[in-house]
Amino acid sequence: MTQPGRLAGRLVALGITGSIAAFKAVDLLRLFRAEGADVVVLMTPSATRFVAPLTLAALSRRPVDADVLDLLPDGRIGHVITADAADVVVVAPATAHWLGAMAHGLAADVVTATCLATSAPVVVGPAMDGDMYAHPATQANVRILRDDFGYRIVEPETGGLASGQVGIGRLAALERIVDAAVEAIGERPIRKPDPADRPPRLPDAGNLDRDADDLGGRHVVVTAGGTAEPIDPVRFIGNRSTGTMGVAVCEAARDRGARVTLVAGTLQVAIPAGVEVVRAETAAAMEAALAALVETPTGRAGFDALVMAAAVADFRPAAPVDHKIARTDAGLTLQLVPNPDILAGLGRRVRGLDETGAPGGRPILPRPVLVGFAAETGGLDRVAAKLRAKRVDLLVANDVGEPGSGFGTSTNRVTLFAADGEVNALPLLPKRSVADRILDRIVTLLDARDEPVQTGATATPGRTTS
Ligand code: CTP
Repeated sequence: MTQPGRLAGRLVALGITGSIAAFKAVDLLRLFRAEGADVVVLMTPSATRFVAPLTLAALSRRPVDADVLDLLPDGRIGHVITADAADVVVVAPATAHWLGAMAHGLAADVVTATCLATSAPVVVGPAMDGDMYAHPATQANVRILRDDFGYRIVEPETGGLASGQVGIGRLAALERIVDAAVEAIGERPIRKPDPADRPPRLPDAGNLDRDADDLGGRHVVVTAGGTAEPIDPVRFIGNRSTGTMGVAVCEAARDRGARVTLVAGTLQVAIPAGVEVVRAETAAAMEAALAALVETPTGRAGFDALVMAAAVADFRPAAPVDHKIARTDAGLTLQLVPNPDILAGLGRRVRGLDETGAPGGRPILPRPVLVGFAAETGGLDRVAAKLRAKRVDLLVANDVGEPGSGFGTSTNRVTLFAADGEVNALPLLPKRSVADRILDRIVTLLDARDEPVQTGATATPGRTTS
């Protein structure tokens, strides 16, 4: 388990070189962000052929530095700025070629140039074919980096390799690399806390006033899509939800620095990059997935906020059968039984209430913010009562009968109903903008939740990245 905020305020320079394992750098970046780090990505030219710089730029909110001869827009030399500001340089995956270039100081790419120019600790995660790693040349280079330069080598692991062989050479578990970076920094002071001394950030395309990192260190769980309740092995009861709104919330939360877990029902849209995914295509599976996420083994909250955008079936066939039901002229009568109201159950659980709503257990702390959706037809009169019944902090209501709103559209007209009684009708907006407006409210609620913590009134840290 990654602990919260061990890299808060730190600048991590993440160097990626041209290994097949380069795709894992996307998750590594996300783990660093979840630890509160500010990340700048450096790539060798060959690494850009394995993973798109655009993905890494979007996740780090900084332009990716992949050309040692390029100057920053303001004329500064990128790798020198990064070398001076980084609290740690992490090279993962590191190829055999890169280890050789580094061991001999051949600074033909930004990753090597930054390592040469920095006095920050350097962590290296090699990844390559087993025979390449075992070769005396590679081993000699590793020794030089470790013994002469003092770099921390996070040894590769044994397992299946891209070549189809099994052997040593697989990039180490990403958590080990993060732990090595945390240890390498130790108690050193933050080198360049002033953003002006750090590499430039991307302009925030969505909202220039907003702190692009306002969900940094937070864990946001989003359910999206419909559920498919089995009748028999080939048929199910489903609904028209495509997952567009929930996926927009995932992307927006990710871009604002959150660690995001998507609990995916039946989706008709692509799963976004840079989020963790748990598949849950029935109401029962979704309930189980959320029950596992809501609390860590140590009894703390497993996430900071839940956005329950999934259209969960209210009913399921009472007795799904394990063979295909054959056609008969007599027709078919299905008996349906109600599914549990997952959100209402979580509303009680986080408060330590039992089925009847009476105190009956331990509340989950710090209490996660719960956001539900209410798909209505013919007006929003029932929403305030739903908000209370489900004990959520915010209910996002829309009239699915209205043009431009609802299933599969790219826009939505919603009204936000808050637990404090505030009602805010938003205009017709792209779903991504709706997502950002919902997240704005979540940020405010989380900041209010953690205020006493920040002023030292309680020893419980607020952020719950687990
Ligand atoms: N929801 C849930 N579990 C269910 C049904 C719905 O957690 N079994 C969640 C949805 O994900 C949504 C919210 O509850 O966030 C409201 O869903 P909605 O269908 O509008 O409300 P219902 O409670 O099902 O009420 P009704 O069917 O009467 O409209």
